[in-house]
Parts: sequence; structure tokens; C-alpha cells
Amino acid sequence: MGKDLVKILMQDLNKVISKNDLMNLKSKFIGKKGLISELTSELKNLSIDEKKNKGAEINSIKKEIEIAINKKFKDIEEAEINEKLNSEKIDITLPGKAPAFGSLHPITQVLENIIDIFEGYGFQTVEGPEVESNFYNFEALNIPENHPARDMQDTFYLDNDKLLRTHTSPMQVRIMENNRPPIKIISPGKVYRCDSDITHTPMFHQVEGLFVDENVSFANLKSILNNFCIDFFKKEIKTRFRPSYFPFTEPSAELDIEWENKNGEKKWMEVLGCGLVNPKVFGSVNYDPDQYSGFAFGMGIERLAMIKLGITDIRYFYQNDLKFLKQF
Ligand code: DAH
Repeated sequence: MGKDLVKILMQDLNKVISKNDLMNLKSKFIGKKGLISELTSELKNLSIDEKKNKGAEINSIKKEIEIAINKKFKDIEEAEINEKLNSEKIDITLPGKAPAFGSLHPITQVLENIIDIFEGYGFQTVEGPEVESNFYNFEALNIPENHPARDMQDTFYLDNDKLLRTHTSPMQVRIMENNRPPIKIISPGKVYRCDSDITHTPMFHQVEGLFVDENVSFANLKSILNNFCIDFFKKEIKTRFRPSYFPFTEPSAELDIEWENKNGEKKWMEVLGCGLVNPKVFGSVNYDPDQYSGFAFGMGIERLAMIKLGITDIRYFYQNDLKFLKQF
């Protein structure tokens, strides 16, 4: 009878797949009202000797059953752990998801390049406010009210006196006002004009340059800017200084470079405005024009970037189109 119990248990155990099944099986065999208890309760009708023998037999069967159930319990537990480990397995040979790295905007790259070049020539970089007054943006630069030159630049006014600077030239005045020559600075930054088409955006960037000392000449201006063109475009480049007009310089010029377009035709391209500082500007900062002279220049960064990178529409710079930006 007892030996049969073990056989039945073994068969039942084969069908068990969960801990729950196993617990049911356990109480069926060795629970309080289980088969072993039943066998034990039958002992009471036996003689003392028989009780001893049978009792020992039942005990050893119970042990056998307990061992089998415990072993099954361990097997189930191990299977569960293995399944969990398998489902959580990480395949370290799979290609990972690379983080998306940003990069500098092409305008920032060109700006940093220009700053590097001029710092190499001994210029110091200074920055100034984008909200300016009439005085710094116009008057001190010899652009009085009602002067036609004010119309050269369509201005965003914030109130009667406050405006968004239309160029970086106000920094010439701010620097000279608080310093004595020699002065050798560049001033990069954003400027604003009410203008928008394929070569104009309402916000763009300029770099202003100013060099004031005794005996600064137009020859000095030409040599610095010619060198700059070679260093910036990274090749020997033909330049031409074409007479022009700016109220804050006298004489004034625009610098053109010879540039080959996509069809291989050579074209003159204007890259910046420049000149010798007008004595009237020295007057607004109390410099003696008989003692000092200087040159100034102002370049549009988007324009230089368009020439260098071969971009035909300035608006690409500010559409935040990754397909465009990723090329640089
Ligand atoms: N401020 C001028 C503009 O925005 C550019 C310029 C021309 C700056 C001549 C200068 C200069 O310093 O000398 O159009």
C-alpha cells in the first residue's frame, strides 16, 4: 500500500508545473487530512508489534515523499529563475542607439573663425548691447537726424530713443569713450534691420573692427584686410578697394574679392565696408584728430559665410532645417 503511494506521487509529480500544483499535491499526500494521515489513523487497530513495523514503514514513506516534493520545489524554482534570466537577457552584441550629438551652427563656426584670425593679429574681442540709443547708433557716428544715411538702415525702434542696433559700429564709440589709444579691437554680435529677402534677414551678424593710434594709415587698413581674406578663404585672393561712402569714415571704401561662381565665371563680390575714422567721430569721444588716426571696418558674417560655404539663400541659416545644418 505505502510503496504504491510513492509510485502514485511520482506520476502526479510529473504533471506538476507550478508551485501551486505542488502545494495541492503536498497536502493531498502529507497534509493533515492527507493520505499519510489516513494510513497512520489505521494503525490504531493493529497490535503493538505491527504498529511498530507499520509505523516505521509509514515514516520512511513520508520521508521519501517529502524529499521528492522538496526536490520538485527546487526544480520549479530553478526553472522560474532561468526563465526570468532568459527574458531579461541583454544581447550586448546588438548595435546600440548612439546619442544625437549637436554641432555648432555654421554662423557660429564662421564667427569663431573670424575672431581667431583677428586675435592672431593682436585685436582684442569686445561685446556690446543690442539695444542702443540714437546717440551711439547714429549721432556719435556722424549720422545726425534727417541725414539721408539714416535711411540706409531700416531701424526697429523700441521707443523714441531706444532702438535695436542696426550695426556694430556703435561699439567704436563705446570703446573710445572709455579708453585711450592705442585701441585695437573687434566687436562681433547681432544686428537688426527691418528687411527680409534672399540676401537679407531681420537679424544678422557683423564683426566691427577698430584700430586707433598715432600714424595709422589706409595702407595699414589694406594690409590687415588683405591678410584677413587670405587667412579666411584659405587661398591667395584678388581684392579691390572700391570708393564708397559711410558717414563715420573718411575716406570710405568697400572691399570686393574676386570669386568664381558655380559656372566658373569670375565675379567681384562685396565683403565689407571700411575706411579711416572720420575726425568728427573722434570729436564725439574727445580724441584729438591731429594726434590720432585710425581705421575701422564692418563685415557681414552671413555674407562671408554664404561666399565661403556656397550658400545662395541667406534664409537657410535660420530655418533650423537639420538637413541643411548637418552639412557643416
Ligand atoms: N556699419 C556699416 C554697415 O552696417 C559697415 C561699416 C562700414 C562699418 C564702414 C565700418 C566702416 O566700421 O568703417 O553698413
